[in-house]
Amino acid sequence: MFVLGIETSCDETAAALVTDGKVVLSNKIATQLDLLQKFGGVVPEIAARRHTELIVYVIKEALDSAGKTLADVEAIAVTSKQGLIGCLLVGVAAAKSLSYSLRIPLIGVHHIEGHIFANQLSNPQIPMPHICLTVSGGHTMLVYVQDYCQYELLGSTLDDAAGEAFDKIAKFLDLGFPGGPVIDKLAVRGNRKAFNFPRPLLKAKTLDFSFSGLKTAVINAFKHRIANGETLPLEDIAASFQEAIVDVLVSKTLHAVLQRKVSAISVTGGVSANRRLREVFRETCRQEGIGVFFPELSLCTDNAAMIAAAGYARLKQGKADDLNLNVIPNVPLEVQGGS
Ligand code: KG4
Ligand code: ZN
Repeated sequence: MFVLGIETSCDETAAALVTDGKVVLSNKIATQLDLLQKFGGVVPEIAARRHTELIVYVIKEALDSAGKTLADVEAIAVTSKQGLIGCLLVGVAAAKSLSYSLRIPLIGVHHIEGHIFANQLSNPQIPMPHICLTVSGGHTMLVYVQDYCQYELLGSTLDDAAGEAFDKIAKFLDLGFPGGPVIDKLAVRGNRKAFNFPRPLLKAKTLDFSFSGLKTAVINAFKHRIANGETLPLEDIAASFQEAIVDVLVSKTLHAVLQRKVSAISVTGGVSANRRLREVFRETCRQEGIGVFFPELSLCTDNAAMIAAAGYARLKQGKADDLNLNVIPNVPLEVQGGS
């Protein structure tokens, strides 16, 4: 079955064609990098307007590059939950129009469920149940994935998301946006022990996260040196800051694994592209005899292939929606219904 996925929850206009929730025929993404760099972050109203300009072309490109036409599409999956309301509305309006005119099923997908399915696309062998760590610019969540479409939220961030901390520190150090990839690259040549930054909630029993204190600690450590025009050891700062985040993410995820007695971890979302995070997870899981899975890099950040895959699974479980599908900017993963 050919499912067209549409994703517009934040600043990426994306469309993809996926067969049977497994084979990615096309995965097109128009980023708003020019706007992000101009405004230093996402401006919701401006991002939504850009989606309206791009959505038709991105869908056409996804179909063209798969060698298909609208007549081939058998279902439409769209991100309808979790994101910026104006941005979500653009994708959902496009999806409804296509579903109505083509007379094919419409499936609303929670953005985080999409990230979970990104890893199913790359690693269909991930055993159930498992623990999924979703780490991106907007989210840091530990989810118990009992089975396809059955989730329990175990913990999430109390303040900044991990990716947001990367972005804010990169902005503070004048390294550009998005910050994660730049810090990842700088850190390769840095000393991870140069600065001992705090590891928030590391020893606490909770599976929640908090990164704003770490961000403030980095800013406080260097703001005077920046004001004095000093040259900073950027590689060492990047490596030490990144190490603090990685320590917390890996340690909390292992806590969740022990608590739920599962044998596998799935790491998804933009931050799952981070080299050091992958390295530490792989090494720790090898020692502990736990399986760890990451999506291929093109599926780590926001994309529509993951939405198509999740939509297909929901459709197979009878969880399709109708034209009353609404957008919900903020809703926990486990309480989402079929419409
Ligand atoms: O999943 P995503 O595209 O969008 C959200 O749903 O937020 O994730 C984007 C986030 C940004 O914060 C970006 O800095 C971060 O993922 N990111 C990384 C890396 N690549 C992207 N963070 C750390 N290391 C990376 N290599
Ligand atoms: Zn995302």
